[in-house]
Amino acid sequence: MSASSYQNSSKPVIEVRDLNVTFTAGAKPVRAVDGVSLQVASGETLALIGESGSGKSVTLRSLLRLHPPRSSRISGQVQVAGMEVLGLNANALADYRGRVCSMIFQEPLLALDPVYSVGDQIVESIRKHEPTVTRTQAHARALELFERVRIPSPERRLAAFPHEMSGGMRQRAMIALALACKPQVLLADEPTTALDATVQIQILLLLRELQRELGLSIIFVTHDMGAAVEMADRIAVMYAGRIVEMGPVRDVIRHPQHPYTAALLESRAGMERATDALNEGHARVRLLAIGGAPPDLTNLPPGCAFAPRCMYAQDACRVAAPDAVQVSAEHTARCVRLGAAHWRDAPVAAPLATSA
Ligand SMILES: Nc1ncnc2c1ncn2[C@@H]1O[C@H](COP(=O)(O)OP(=O)(O)OP(=O)(O)O)[C@@H](O)[C@H]1O
Ligand SMILES: [Mg+2]
Repeated sequence: MSASSYQNSSKPVIEVRDLNVTFTAGAKPVRAVDGVSLQVASGETLALIGESGSGKSVTLRSLLRLHPPRSSRISGQVQVAGMEVLGLNANALADYRGRVCSMIFQEPLLALDPVYSVGDQIVESIRKHEPTVTRTQAHARALELFERVRIPSPERRLAAFPHEMSGGMRQRAMIALALACKPQVLLADEPTTALDATVQIQILLLLRELQRELGLSIIFVTHDMGAAVEMADRIAVMYAGRIVEMGPVRDVIRHPQHPYTAALLESRAGMERATDALNEGHARVRLLAIGGAPPDLTNLPPGCAFAPRCMYAQDACRVAAPDAVQVSAEHTARCVRLGAAHWRDAPVAAPLATSA
């Protein structure tokens, strides 16, 4: 769906407000998610992008309340299809998972049960949520789902165990399982990273098609800016547990407002240039990279967490974390320089550092 229909739609299907997640098992608490707020409309895809450890998976798992209850603290509001997820009791939560909100994991072998056939897992999932459905009816639905995700010889494959399938087929089976109970919301956590490039594209195309057909609301986590552009209506960029920039894909790509977003875009462009150069026979290529190390989540600086790596950082950046600034109707970013004309007019896609 388009950005404008997001604006016009009445109530978002996903509404997260001021989500904070801290893990407390280690010597020092880990602040993995820090004040995240986002909305996703019906039929919309939001891509969540950022470096490893920036809190993308923790944010997603919060929507299903999958964190270890004894060693995590979670606060804020998570509303999905009108349900207050953080307040659900055990029964309501079990019903919510899969029926309202489902997840596709990066590595389906970890999510699928190795001792049951994939077909049995789909049948059980349907019957758990809809006890009046018979095994035969559930099996027919599983077959339909396998056809829909284009698994060849679907009847035979339903009897297969997860380890008997190829990576791409397992990911298709995982998608079928995730859709078995007709959820409104699909959370996809790097669903194609473990697959080779051609299979990745097939799975992304399949997801996009299913999303359109079924009107799903999707949060799609990825490292890959290209996949985010292909899949999403809007992009949220995460850094150190915070969303530092969010907006319609086109706006964020063409006019990134946060230096971290600009650096992500530039490192992708650098990678593409390097690949071209290697293809042209150059033996060594200098790659642009985001300089400095990702922040320590047990000891975050008081101001903007990106400041130590940012070539535009100034004193104000180290004092307090900047609030989100509305750049345009749907585009927000958290950078103190946003108000300053010299930053807006500067070439935002400038590299932050160069490494050999
Ligand atoms: N159960 C847990 N207990 C303690 N720390 C955790 C737990 N789960 C995640 N973390 C920490 O929270 C931070 C954010 O993790 P998260 O998995 O969300 O990163 P991510 O953005 O998904 O990274 P990646 O791209 O590598 O998947 C990391 O520092 C991680 O070590
Ligand atoms: Mg992750």
